[in-house]
Amino acid sequence: MESALTARDRVGVQDFVLLENYTSEAAFIENLRKRFKENLIYTYIGSVLVSVNPYKDLEIYNKNHMERYRGVNFYEVSPHIYAVGDNSYRSMRTERKDQCILISGESGAGKTEASKKILQYYAVTCPASEQVQTVKDRLLQSNPVLEAFGNAKTLRNDNSSRFGKYMDIQFDFKGAPVGGHIINYLLEKSRVVHQNHGERNFHIFYQLIEGGEEDLLRRLGLERNPQQYQYLVKVRTCSTLKGWLRVCVCVCELLNIIASVLHLGNVQYGEEDGSACITSDTQIKYLARLLGVNGTVLTEALTHKKIIAKGEELMSPLNLEQASSARDALSKAVYGRTFTWLVNKINTSLTYTDDSSKHYSVIGLLDIYGFEVFQHNSFEQFCINYCNEKLQQLFIELTLKSEQEEYEAEGITWEPVQYFNNKIICDLVEEKFKGIISILDEECLRPGDASDLTFLEKLADTVGGHPHFVTHKLADAKTRKVMGREEFRLLHYAGEVNYNVNGVCVCVCVCVFNLIVMCMSENKILNQCFDREELSDKKRPETAAAQFKASLAKLMEILMSKEPSYVRCMKPNDSKQAGRFDEVLIRHQVKYLGLMENLRVRRAGFAYRRRYEVFLQRYKSLCPDTWPNWQGKLSDGVATLVKHLGYKPEEYKLGRSKIFIRFPKTLFGTEEALETRKHSLATKLQAGWRGYSQKSKYQKLRTSAVQAWWRGILARRRARRRRQAADTIRRFIKGFIHRHEDRCPENEYFLDYVRYSFLMKLHRNLPKNVLDKSWPTPPAALTEASEHLRQLCMQNMVWSYCKKISPEWKHQMEQKMIASELFKDKKDNYPQSVPKLFVSTRLNGEDINPKVVQALGSEKMKYAVPVTKYDRKGYKARPRQLLLTSSGAVIVEEAKLKQRIDYGALKGISVSSLSDGLFVLHVLSEDNKQKGDVVLQSDHVIETLTKIAICSDKINNININQGSITYTVGQGKECVIDFTPGSELLVAKAKNGHLSVTAPRLNSR
Ligand SMILES: Nc1ncnc2c1ncn2[C@@H]1O[C@H](COP(=O)(O)OP(=O)(O)OP(=O)(O)O)[C@@H](O)[C@H]1O
Ligand SMILES: [Mg+2]
Repeated sequence: MESALTARDRVGVQDFVLLENYTSEAAFIENLRKRFKENLIYTYIGSVLVSVNPYKDLEIYNKNHMERYRGVNFYEVSPHIYAVGDNSYRSMRTERKDQCILISGESGAGKTEASKKILQYYAVTCPASEQVQTVKDRLLQSNPVLEAFGNAKTLRNDNSSRFGKYMDIQFDFKGAPVGGHIINYLLEKSRVVHQNHGERNFHIFYQLIEGGEEDLLRRLGLERNPQQYQYLVKVRTCSTLKGWLRVCVCVCELLNIIASVLHLGNVQYGEEDGSACITSDTQIKYLARLLGVNGTVLTEALTHKKIIAKGEELMSPLNLEQASSARDALSKAVYGRTFTWLVNKINTSLTYTDDSSKHYSVIGLLDIYGFEVFQHNSFEQFCINYCNEKLQQLFIELTLKSEQEEYEAEGITWEPVQYFNNKIICDLVEEKFKGIISILDEECLRPGDASDLTFLEKLADTVGGHPHFVTHKLADAKTRKVMGREEFRLLHYAGEVNYNVNGVCVCVCVCVFNLIVMCMSENKILNQCFDREELSDKKRPETAAAQFKASLAKLMEILMSKEPSYVRCMKPNDSKQAGRFDEVLIRHQVKYLGLMENLRVRRAGFAYRRRYEVFLQRYKSLCPDTWPNWQGKLSDGVATLVKHLGYKPEEYKLGRSKIFIRFPKTLFGTEEALETRKHSLATKLQAGWRGYSQKSKYQKLRTSAVQAWWRGILARRRARRRRQAADTIRRFIKGFIHRHEDRCPENEYFLDYVRYSFLMKLHRNLPKNVLDKSWPTPPAALTEASEHLRQLCMQNMVWSYCKKISPEWKHQMEQKMIASELFKDKKDNYPQSVPKLFVSTRLNGEDINPKVVQALGSEKMKYAVPVTKYDRKGYKARPRQLLLTSSGAVIVEEAKLKQRIDYGALKGISVSSLSDGLFVLHVLSEDNKQKGDVVLQSDHVIETLTKIAICSDKINNININQGSITYTVGQGKECVIDFTPGSELLVAKAKNGHLSVTAPRLNSR
């Protein structure tokens, strides 16, 4: 709805409360007209829906539309009958209160269509189970059946409902329709016996005659020609109405009744002595059979009346006129009661049978004729208008009540509304004893000759002084001109209506006799319709008016207990034409529907009201403080907004949850400001959007140009690479072919490559340390260079290795080098000595006797080792210590210096090539101090001899002997040591006087 506020110039306002000039009927009609021209047939007056019959199919009733209105707030979408249906449904579900939708309007205004649309809406949108589907189907199917029996073609409507209908739809706790109940009101029974020119009887008669099979018609005694029947005779053409077969509930009895009504209409009367008599027996024969009554009794009932006077029953013949009235009364009674029976039958099929949950909610649909005014208004119009008078009373009361309740709920002071209270008219009609219906009752049932005119007189006597009542007799001269003598006038809320009293008092006594006859019927339906107990009921029979009054009171009770919604239907023209808007006719209906009064009540206070969040959401862009979002309380936001908009205090009120705006112009001013704002916002957005889209277009363009350029580069690069690769391969192959030739253009690339790859390989596989002798094989051209490189590499490694050697280690290595030079491949136990490091000394200070140390004096001791000395004679082994000083070797026996050999006197050193530890120190013989050569044995012979050689600088004086060593002892005597390899070390004096040494072989040669 809010969205269409902006389009109001073209399509008017969607809610009449927004009409600036709300008291003007012209403005009201103009708004309707504008909307009707745009096919907008629905408009609200607050929560009341005004509908104008479009007389054409509009695309607004499909499933999409139903979905659009489902669960949506009333005001958020454009006015629609679905919105009313949905609103009632939601209120029923959320508030758990029964609802009713009151649909009123003239004949042909679209009431029945509206009620069908609501029913369809529920059938489609409500949840459904299999069982529910059956109920939905039955609810929908009840319509064509009821329409066949209760609808007829009239001048105003081809399918006019000739009865009022109130239908309850029952919903279970899940909101699914589970049952229904129909109450019918005031079937227009007179139509059975009489139709105005151009109108027809109820559809069912034509459906039977046109659609019934031959056999059926024969059995019922009917002909396939409506012209044959008095009750149908006025109709020249009779189109077959669809749906006959569906309507045919195929109860034989029902068809018997319909046929018998037609036969009744054809009963002919003659006159005998002023009394009526029946001239054709055929009809009576058929009637007796079809109705299941005795023919004679029936004949009597159709020609006599039974009067009950002073407790006695009197039979009196009827005159011709009375007889045909009695016949017609019987027809009407039979049809009317059968109709009620049918409604009950439908109700049985719609009954909610689930006993487990007796609780259900209800939405009632009331489809009842609107106010009717014709040139001649009969008793039926009186009832209809009385009904509308009651509905108007209810409507005003409930609308005012709900308005007042809303004001109270919102904490806004209620300002009393002046309105026309039509209670005075209702009372005039229905008041006990004094009301028109009571007077009619009284008159009809009083003994004596009651007639229409006596009733009129009685009326004048009783209510003559009432401001809303006039009779011909009481009227002023001007009124008299437009009133007949048998008429009385009522001043209804909707206008003045003259009612003709003709036939109002149709003898209840006649009806009583008919009742008696029908109670005897063997037809099962009539048997139920005319209860035999009625015969024994001593109470006065009720007149139709009294019955109607009672049923109306009941209806009011039903409606009062529910929350009402209203649909006011209007027809745009009398010719059932689409697109024609007859202003006079519309004005007439606006008046009779009381729409202006309705609008006045609704507009008495405030024209517009909305919940804070809705109002703020719509207009927040109009105030910098509320745009784009208001963070605080909603009411404060709305207060800030309206202050910014410059609302005057009298223009609005803030309730608890809603803002109330008194005048539409205030709202429209705001709406216009919103339009302007929207434009500027839209311009900004558009500019922003354009900029953004241009920028992204440009970026896309640029991206694609850059991409193209980059792809070009890549492609060129790939091509170049391919070319280069091909060149390389070509040159490589050529070079390989000429590889053995001197460097020339053909092979230079290949040779360079080979060189390069050798160097790269070398680079990756250089020897890791000085002991690593690996070296890649160079190509022929690089042999020399490779060798140079190898040496350089080795030097480099040696150099860096040496740089890292500590002095101690260097000393060790030097000694080991000397040992190697002396013994490598010469002495058998040399290899075992290699991994063992030489120590600086094998005897520490505490191992050497202090006296020895003292004796040595300042002489520096370089090495000391325990040794075994073999005597010169007898070769006895004696433990000794060998000390090497800077000047000589000293043999020590504990504290004694046994022998000192200066290095200068040391001639040489002999040692065997075997693995033994024996060695001989040869000394100069001319040195007298010496006792001759010394035979010693050391466990560390390699180390000891190396040390002696270094200390004495006698490296070249070490002899390694094989077989034997000859040495000299004192006075030039020579001794021999024989060395033989054996399994173990053995030193002993041999028989030949030699020292024999057996030493194991450690290394195989
Ligand atoms: N919403 C609608 N869209 C299209 N056509 C419609 C609509 N409402 C009514 N009509 C047309 O108007 C005709 C009369 O409508 P409907 O029978 O509902 O009137 P009514 O008010 O029930 O009249 P009555 O009081 O005589 O029963 C329908 O047969 C249909 O052709
Ligand atoms: Mg209708």
